[in-house]
Order: sequence, then C-alpha cells, then structure tokens
Amino acid sequence: MREWALPDAILAAAPEQPWGFPPELFRSRAELATPGELTFANRRARDALPAGGTVLDVGVGAGAASLPLHPRSSLITGVDSSADQLSEFARQAKRRGATARTVEGGWPEAAARTPIADVVVCNHVAYNVADLAPFVVALTAHARRRVVMEVTKRHPTAWMADLWWRFHTLERPLRPDADDVVSVIRTLGFAARRHAEISRRRAGGFEHREDAVAWIRRRLCLQPGRDAEVAEALGERLVHDGAFWSVKPPIEPVITVWWDVPPEIAE
Ligand SMILES: C[S@@+](CC[C@H](N)C(=O)[O-])C[C@H]1O[C@@H](n2cnc3c(N)ncnc32)[C@H](O)[C@@H]1O
Repeated sequence: MREWALPDAILAAAPEQPWGFPPELFRSRAELATPGELTFANRRARDALPAGGTVLDVGVGAGAASLPLHPRSSLITGVDSSADQLSEFARQAKRRGATARTVEGGWPEAAARTPIADVVVCNHVAYNVADLAPFVVALTAHARRRVVMEVTKRHPTAWMADLWWRFHTLERPLRPDADDVVSVIRTLGFAARRHAEISRRRAGGFEHREDAVAWIRRRLCLQPGRDAEVAEALGERLVHDGAFWSVKPPIEPVITVWWDVPPEIAE
C-alpha cells in the first residue's frame, strides 16, 4: 500500500485533504442496501448469523454491509475512524429500528474497546489498510462464527489512472488487488473462500452533479477552479442514474472473501 502514497509535492499543493469519504456517498449506499436485496456478501454473513445474533461491522460507513442483516440481528456494532460516518450509521440504524452501537477509532487499535460478535463484516476497507495481517487477525479474534469481507477486484481508485496522468503526469500502481488480500488471509492460516461477481446493487452517489465532480477534484488534489476540467476529463463516466449523480468506473468484479472462525479461537 506504500506505493499508493502521493508524492509530497502534490500533497503540499492540495487545497484540501484528498482522503476520506463524503458521508452523502455512503448514506445513499446504505439507503440502497435493504434486507429484500441482499448481496452475496450479505447472504454469507446472514447464513452464519443465529436468529437474534450480533454483528460487528468494521469500517461501517453508513452501514451498507450490516444494516441489511437487521432484523435477524439483535445488535449491530459499527466501528469507524470517522465520527461523521458513525453519526450517519446511527441515523440509518434508527430509521430502520435496528439497535446499534458505535465505536470511534481505527481498526485494529479500536479492537480492545470493541465487543465480540457472532459475525464480523468488513466491506471496502482492506485497501485503506497499510498492514493487513494484524487487521485481519483482530477481525477474526472478534468473531464467534464467521468473518465476511467484500473488496473490489482492483484498488477502488485504479480507474482514476488516466486522470492522475492527465492532471499530474503521475503513474499509479496496479497492486495490491483482491488476490493479494486473499493471499494475506490464507497465509495467516484462515481457510478463506472467495467468490467473484458483478454487483447488481447500485453504488449510491450525490444529489448534485457538482458534488460528484468536487469529490473527484479533491481526490486529485486540485484547486476548486478546476472542476470544469475534471468534469470534462470524466466525460461519460459522470452519470445520473435517475436518483444520484455518480462517477461510474469500468465494471469491476466485487470479491467476497469469507472464513469460519476455528473453534480454538472462537469464544
Ligand atoms: C469505502 S468506505 C466503506 C463503508 C461501508 N463498509 C460500505 O461498504 O458502504 C470505508 C470506511 O471505512 C472507514 N475506515 C477506513 N479505514 C479504517 C480503519 N482502519 N478503521 C476503521 N475504519 C476505517 C472509513 O472511514 C470509511 O467510513
């Protein structure tokens, strides 16, 4: 993941922090995640969840990975390093009548303050993690039955390579990818299974076109005055799906990785 670090000169000239996610993006994503429309990863989590069982969602965002498991679950604990995302998760849980708790902090540092659950889910976080092994060990130590992770086949911003080249003449890395994620988990001795599919769930987005463009412009470390150029470079990737403005990367398989917790470490 070190190769994904941006050169100091680009970061120093960035008007705003390029990292982080606008809560609106994950709010819309969580609103589209319903119990009537479970994804493959949701179903693998539900299969291991006893009726009235508990769920821990690490890197919860607004809760798209875990809220569809309500009402089978009695409690969903969401961990996130972003207080804004946790507030949105708490709002989404309340809207659905789900009992939720939040733990603010980065994983695995926050693990010591986090209760164990029957099933641990962790969707679209692995590529943010510099050292995946302790992260995965702590996920497993917090699950009585199963851990389910979802990741895109390639890094979720790999599709932006042409934009980095156009605006900064910067080449971006191609690895790690989902094969590397699975390899780390298996090397730790966990019998991880994997399944690839093209997700049919809509990804969420923004109410306003300019917010979708501004998000990509921030990620590219550019000044707000460059929005029109960014929109032009995005071209047909900037789409309105009838409800949201979003930036559509090329169709990318989503990989579900899941493993059952060995009895010797399950509580
Ligand atoms: C791409 S979002 C995914 C949100 C949600 N899981 C989903 O699938 O919609 C990643 C989330 O993980 C959080 N995050 C990233 N690294 C984290 C870490 N090490 N510990 C806790 N949260 C983290 C971010 O703040 C963000 O809310």
